[in-house]
Amino acid sequence: MELLAPRLAAYLDELVPPRPARLAELEVEARRTDFPIIGPATGQLCYLLARLSGARRVFELGSGFGYSTAWFARAVKENGGGTVHHVVWDADLSRRARENLSALGLADVVQFHVGEAVAALEGVNGSFDLVFNDIDKQDYPKALDVIVTKLKPGGLLLADNLLWGGRIFNKRDRSRATRGIREFTRRVQADPRWTSTVIPIRDGLLVAHRR
Ligand SMILES: C[S@@+](CC[C@H](N)C(=O)[O-])C[C@H]1O[C@@H](n2cnc3c(N)ncnc32)[C@H](O)[C@@H]1O
Repeated sequence: MELLAPRLAAYLDELVPPRPARLAELEVEARRTDFPIIGPATGQLCYLLARLSGARRVFELGSGFGYSTAWFARAVKENGGGTVHHVVWDADLSRRARENLSALGLADVVQFHVGEAVAALEGVNGSFDLVFNDIDKQDYPKALDVIVTKLKPGGLLLADNLLWGGRIFNKRDRSRATRGIREFTRRVQADPRWTSTVIPIRDGLLVAHRR
């Protein structure tokens, strides 16, 4: 179920400035293959938040064919350069992401990992300015335990699908994915280490500041 009125969702997407042809092609491909990407309005918001925070070290959990990665990579380049970690457990998706980010001229700021994303974050050295979480929803709570240790104080956590097409409101929905999102949201909200809100754009984006 789409929570936003289609007219409002389309309007927010239309407000996003023209993008490089390859990025717009990826939006068409996602629609054609029903692949879940963050889409233009959320992409633009992620880009804006990455620019505003000056992020140069970004870790993305659950990356797909590189669409959301491209928004972060653009911001990191404009922030002076750095690294966006792209992680997906599907080797073919990772290969397509490499091609897409090369075509966009952004591959030089992206590091590609094939594997489980939470383990990859745990295994990488150093801390991050911004973490974006878009893995399978039942694993959101498990990811949070690691993210909180890897995000530097003052860093930003962004997470997609916090409204989960409205399923979070259905008390009879006890699926693992829905429970994962409920628990993740409740824990970020209750934890004094975070200042957070959910922005009701597309499927709901968590924006949380690590104190
Ligand atoms: C929602 S899609 C990512 C879309 C991407 N963020 C975008 O907007 O372009 C999530 C992808 O991550 C993969 N994935 C889910 N959970 C994962 C995990 N724990 N580790 C690695 N990859 C995962 C899925 O198979 C899928 O390809």
